[in-house]
Amino acid sequence: MADHLMATYGRLPVAFTRGEGAWLWDGGGKRYLDALAGIAVCGLGHAHPRLREALCDQAGTLIHTSNLYRIPVQEALGDRLCAAAGMDRVFFGNSGAEANEAAIKLARLHAHRRGIEKPEVLVMENSFHGRTLATLSATGNRKTQAGFEPLVQGFVRVPYDDLGAVETAASNRPSTVAVLVEPIQGEGGVVVPADGYLAALRALCDRFGWLLMLDEIQTGMGRTGRMFAHQHDGIAPDVMTLAKGLGNGVPIGACFARGAAAEVFGPGSHGSTFGGNPLACRAASTVLEVLESERLAERATGLGTRMLDAFRAGLAEVSGVEQIRGRGLMLGIQLDRPCGDLVPHALEQGLLINVTAERVIRLLPPLIIDEQQADAIVDTVVRLVRDFLGDAM
Ligand SMILES: Cc1ncc(COP(=O)(O)O)c(C=O)c1O
Repeated sequence: MADHLMATYGRLPVAFTRGEGAWLWDGGGKRYLDALAGIAVCGLGHAHPRLREALCDQAGTLIHTSNLYRIPVQEALGDRLCAAAGMDRVFFGNSGAEANEAAIKLARLHAHRRGIEKPEVLVMENSFHGRTLATLSATGNRKTQAGFEPLVQGFVRVPYDDLGAVETAASNRPSTVAVLVEPIQGEGGVVVPADGYLAALRALCDRFGWLLMLDEIQTGMGRTGRMFAHQHDGIAPDVMTLAKGLGNGVPIGACFARGAAAEVFGPGSHGSTFGGNPLACRAASTVLEVLESERLAERATGLGTRMLDAFRAGLAEVSGVEQIRGRGLMLGIQLDRPCGDLVPHALEQGLLINVTAERVIRLLPPLIIDEQQADAIVDTVVRLVRDFLGDAM
């Protein structure tokens, strides 16, 4: 069937031909409720009328020029996103991994300018930052790295949500220049750190003169109930990366910087052929407008709380369910055993879910779902989990 595609993905045997809102249809006309949104990408759902209109208009006007020239729609998007994020400057690429590559390069250049020859970036165990060589080296998952050695040097790993380990690293690793961290670990299993973790990291970065670099690729764009997850903590990063929900499916990534970090890159430091082209920037501008005008982050808070409460009620005292956690519409249900088999079971029932870190059911529905859809997701997942764990209702 897919003989000429490199076998990089273990794909489910279904192909979707059409989408609308939180619904997808396969070629046979079967309808599925999408509780994954292309892994936190389609926050506005599928075929959103305002995005469709903007993209058709832009495709009929200008898709691409080059960063050799000014791109007004990129400049306008930069202004709007920086205002929303409290950042000073942004570099646009095409994916999450590229956004993180830019952040890592920025940290190194910043350090070299300060006379640190072999800068090191603190990264977390169980993290995920992408599949390029530098970002897989930063990623805290041996499976992602295996076979691709030698890895890129200059990363020091500490456990997530462990401030003591960061302080120890500070005394042992004098060449540390930055911390790269996800506000909530996504691929690692929807791991929510203790309250105050990001604020304490901010304080440590200030104390040691490090850059706080937040990977908001999965948590950004309204997903956790604020436009950016760190806004729950009332702190400001020095560097922040975005992708996924930024373009609602049109590839775009972004690396933001604030203060001194925003002045690090100059002409020739970094670049991308496609990055920030008119089509991608028009998509992201429209996504931002819709998120703001439809108050989708607030919606994520309300629906997320509703779903968490319903999961906690529906799975209370079911043995085998270890923890139910999340923030906004980024939800995880951790079981005591590997549960990848739930994904095809859910598909049969017309529901798209994901399992990550082997035993965490991850739900990342579009932010536009309504209450009935949220309840339908919970009902189906509760039933599937109970069946899977042999706990009849
Ligand atoms: C937190 C985080 N960073 C980076 C990435 C990599 O993004 P991309 O697949 O667009 O390169 C992902 C993708 O899952 C992610 O969740």
